[in-house]
Amino acid sequence: MDMNSSWGIDHILDLDLLPCVADITNMLVTVHAFTWLQTLLVMTLLALISYCIFLPMNYVRDLSDVGYDHLLEDSGLGLARRKGRNKSELVREVRRLRKVGKLPPVYPNGWFSLLDSTDLAPGNVKHVAALGENFAVFRTLAGVVHILDAYCPHLGANMAVGGAVRGDCLECPFHLWRFKGEDGMCSAIPYSDKVPDFARVKKWPSCEENNIIFVWYHAEEEKPSWRLTSIPQIQTGQWRYGGRNEFIVNSHIQDIPENAADVAHLNGVHSPSLLAGSDLRYTRRLLYSFARHIWSAKWQPNPDVRHQSTMHMHHEFRLFNKIPIIVLDGHIKQIGPAYVELYLSTSFGTLTLLQTVTPVEPLLQRVVHRIYCHPFLSLFARFILYGESIMIERDIMIWNHKTYIEKPLLVKEDQSIRRHRHWFSQFYSENSPQFSFQQENTDW
Ligand code: FES
Ligand SMILES: [Fe+2]
Repeated sequence: MDMNSSWGIDHILDLDLLPCVADITNMLVTVHAFTWLQTLLVMTLLALISYCIFLPMNYVRDLSDVGYDHLLEDSGLGLARRKGRNKSELVREVRRLRKVGKLPPVYPNGWFSLLDSTDLAPGNVKHVAALGENFAVFRTLAGVVHILDAYCPHLGANMAVGGAVRGDCLECPFHLWRFKGEDGMCSAIPYSDKVPDFARVKKWPSCEENNIIFVWYHAEEEKPSWRLTSIPQIQTGQWRYGGRNEFIVNSHIQDIPENAADVAHLNGVHSPSLLAGSDLRYTRRLLYSFARHIWSAKWQPNPDVRHQSTMHMHHEFRLFNKIPIIVLDGHIKQIGPAYVELYLSTSFGTLTLLQTVTPVEPLLQRVVHRIYCHPFLSLFARFILYGESIMIERDIMIWNHKTYIEKPLLVKEDQSIRRHRHWFSQFYSENSPQFSFQQENTDW
């Protein structure tokens, strides 16, 4: 049988349908490709949405990342000094030349964040240098956190570098002496029958609240005079962690909380729209003036709890100075010298930011904010955290370059700054370490 004379082929040939089949095939291929493209787009969109909702934001800026861009353009250092130097070297030069003023003591007394809880898994030890000290922070397998001096009293090894957690003890990597987390006493020396009674390492008071590990620092070695407490919604998981930001700031620690009492700076620094970014050289450009942040605030010490102060703040993001787009009311609780709980009420619900400031060096602060909220607000929380990051970068540009004026020239409306300085002075004591120029001007 001649295959070409079969009904099918003849019929197709007769009806001249071959081009039509080709069209359909092409169309199917196109539709197929289009479907794949659609699927890919939908998947990408879903991935983006889940990224925004489920993956917490982590916005990290090092010292030279914020407030030093002008050094690359026109720093006032002169061309010869700028030539051949990278940004970090220029920052170091500017830090060296800075007149810091007559500063208060550099490390106040109180609770300071060393790590976030998630940074320290059970059975792990970490080295943290802060407050002029070196800490070995470790977590037992049972989950308990202890903080000991990092340097072993035997021959000075850093126990957080290569050391191991053994039960509730930290074992030094050099000669394997063991120290109890509970009180710092030496519990075992593997090559000696006797452990001297005086063999111990300094034990630092610590606590873990709201997923942050804190150490108690006191220049007179006094025991904690107050405690931090947990926020029930964070403890129960009702509010979910939505991300964090972290900055290294070249300033004295007191400058950072002082901003809460400096109400006038809100409209000075934070009034230009977020869209204008964080470089203060450009934020007041006319281009961005169609939208503004309007602030009003009041700061006062807490009359009942001496180590606390409160700031009440109202914020509106307005278009053409008339149409409010975002309205926020803030209740900001400063607890001690280095920890702040910031509750933001919005029309969608409450967002909570936890701020910690840790002096890494006398004039180098690690500032971290973490945001918590109801899971439904995750996307909004991300936006708020990003906005807050831009706003604090504007503050950082000021902090990185300012001098400390012991007797500032204040007007009546600035009085809360004076009150804040008085309030903050409760965290200094007779032996609080003073600033030393040589100490500060080592490399960072
Ligand atoms: S230095 Fe730590 S055990 Fe010897
Ligand atoms: Fe500010």
